[in-house]
Amino acid sequence: MRRYSRVLIAIHWLTALLILAAWFTSEGGRQVRLNPPLLHFGIGLAVLMLVVPRLIARGLGGAPRVENPQGPWLNLLTQAGHAVLYAFMIGLPITGWYAASRMGVPVSFFGISLPAIAAPVQGSPGMIAEIHETGGTLILLLSGLHAMIALWHQFVLRDGTLERMNPV
Ligand code: HEM
Ligand code: HEM
Repeated sequence: MRRYSRVLIAIHWLTALLILAAWFTSEGGRQVRLNPPLLHFGIGLAVLMLVVPRLIARGLGGAPRVENPQGPWLNLLTQAGHAVLYAFMIGLPITGWYAASRMGVPVSFFGISLPAIAAPVQGSPGMIAEIHETGGTLILLLSGLHAMIALWHQFVLRDGTLERMNPV
């Protein structure tokens, strides 16, 4: 059974923990302007930064081929599912950064100030901020589904899928 490279396995589990932590540290509405959740910003931006080495490691051949004995359509579905998770890992931090900028809240990465990426507005920060809020919970639900599929492979189909991401 071929495994993901050590780098990809480390980033996979670190990112999963960061996404969970980003969800738990998130704030909505007025509270964000009054007391900006800087920890939420930093953790969320770390997710975005880790996507870069992750994609490079994949490009260098760190990911084994998806091996789904049930055929090419399920392989394609698996790859599409993983691509959706990547889209969220990139899209969520950027929409969050945009939302904070619209709210006029300074964004920083653990003490390092970052520029605003949108002009501030007085009232509601708009649709992108709403997409971010909904997307922030959606990624958790999608990851839960992804984890359940992985566990199904491991314990019902018994094809050793979890071993491919085993950190030890
Ligand atoms: C926020 C949480 C998670 C995210 C965003 C996530 C994302 C991903 C992505 C994008 C891949 C494709 C491989 C890659 O490029 O690294 C993957 C593979 C995998 N994930 Fe996750 N994952 C999460 C949580 C979990 C959990 C909780 C489990 C286990 C219960 C799990 C088990 C696996 C396994 C076994 C693979 C390899 C699948 C294969 O090669 O067919 N993941 N994950
Ligand atoms: C994977 C990363 C992230 C996840 C899972 C996530 C999740 C969430 C969730 C669930 C909310 C809604 C909270 C609530 O309504 O109580 C939220 C709000 C927010 N997040 Fe994130 N977030 C992430 C990254 C970021 C980043 C990187 C930034 C900024 C640099 C950010 C800025 C914000 C802002 C400003 C709000 C408030 C939006 C509003 O009230 O309209 N987020 N986030």
